[in-house]
Amino acid sequence: MGNCILKTDDCDTTICLNPHQFDFHYPIGRSSFSKVWKVTQKNSKQVLALKEILKSRVVAQRHVNSTLNEKEMLSILRHPFMTNMHHAFQNHSHLYLTMDFKHGGDLRYQLLKHKFVEEEAKFIISCVIIGLEYVHSKQIIHRDLKPENLLFDEKGYAYLSDFGEAKIWAQENSNDVSGTPGYMAPEVLCQQNHSYPADWFAVGVILHEIITGSRPFPGKNLKEVKEKILESQVQLNVDTLSTSWSKACEDFVNQLIQTNPQNRLGFRGVDEIKNHPWLKDVEWDKVLKKEANPRFVPKRGNNFNREYVSKDWSDGIKPKCDFKQEMFAGYFYVEMPHSQNVDNSQSTNMRNKSSFVQPHIQSGSSSNQRARGKSSVRVDKNI
Ligand SMILES: Nc1ncnc2c1ncn2[C@@H]1O[C@H](COP(=O)(O)OP(=O)(O)OP(=O)(O)O)[C@@H](O)[C@H]1O
Ligand SMILES: [Mg+2]
Repeated sequence: MGNCILKTDDCDTTICLNPHQFDFHYPIGRSSFSKVWKVTQKNSKQVLALKEILKSRVVAQRHVNSTLNEKEMLSILRHPFMTNMHHAFQNHSHLYLTMDFKHGGDLRYQLLKHKFVEEEAKFIISCVIIGLEYVHSKQIIHRDLKPENLLFDEKGYAYLSDFGEAKIWAQENSNDVSGTPGYMAPEVLCQQNHSYPADWFAVGVILHEIITGSRPFPGKNLKEVKEKILESQVQLNVDTLSTSWSKACEDFVNQLIQTNPQNRLGFRGVDEIKNHPWLKDVEWDKVLKKEANPRFVPKRGNNFNREYVSKDWSDGIKPKCDFKQEMFAGYFYVEMPHSQNVDNSQSTNMRNKSSFVQPHIQSGSSSNQRARGKSSVRVDKNI
């Protein structure tokens, strides 16, 4: 941590949460500025996932914007097919975000362990469609769908997670280039106005990856992926595969990975997707009520790479310690008891009583970035 001097918070603990109110079990995920832990909230005995975000690394990597954005998006959204937020709080060194804990690991991990067959893939994609239908109904585009951000519960239901790049749709959003190359829709990559079909493109890429083990438009960086996309419209041909996949599935993928959003399945709404012949036997109500029969069930026990998540950062990034705490003003959230359907009007979005300044939407670097629609491109660990 170099020369960082970190004071401890002295806030009113009746409303202000702190990490001591949780038992930390072990890490289950990490990024370049955060670790995700399995925790138990001591009072409620509830098992949760807790994302512990190091402020000095977020600032160094200019990810303040997406970090604050994740909490904002999660305070609007709540649904049975996403990882819902329970609390957000901070001290001088860290931001903390607790969410539903999912035991089954992420799809990236499971892709390395398991060769999915068609019916398993169909079930996973059905869960993703239900989750996205809800997110889009709130006028939000997820914009960072990829196997790392789809989590399984112990039964095999799949959940949308990681809303750091999610955005409320705006007519003019061409400057907002966010996401992970390889999954980002061509219209986002090419800095055009984009909407919900950008997420459907990512669903097509993910399904292509489940089927073939690779993305339709591969590349080591944004430039290479862009070149591939501009080169030609890739088409999946299941006849060339060693395992058997149906023609309906092939058509579904090919309609989703259309580089022109107007030609893409889902451009005219989610019903176009749900009514595709590949999904004709999906019992949507049963899946939504979790009364269906998931085909792929994750193994019991730990579903993550223990060695990877336990490692400390060795990327040489110097934490930036001379930041203003005001950057993180308002990072606080306590879930409303018994609320299952939180939306804007219902969410309890309390501010803590500590010395943090309330957010000024028009001032402070992070708010300004947000107002300008700051772009943020993820590095895909697997490219
Ligand atoms: N609620 C959860 N339950 C179980 N595992 C989780 C949960 N949230 C995250 N994880 C694990 O941690 C990993 C990283 O979490 P997440 O996607 O939220 O952060 P990130 O993309 O790496 O970081 P950031 O968005 O901060 O850059 C996930 O890919 C997943 O394996
Ligand atoms: Mg992620």
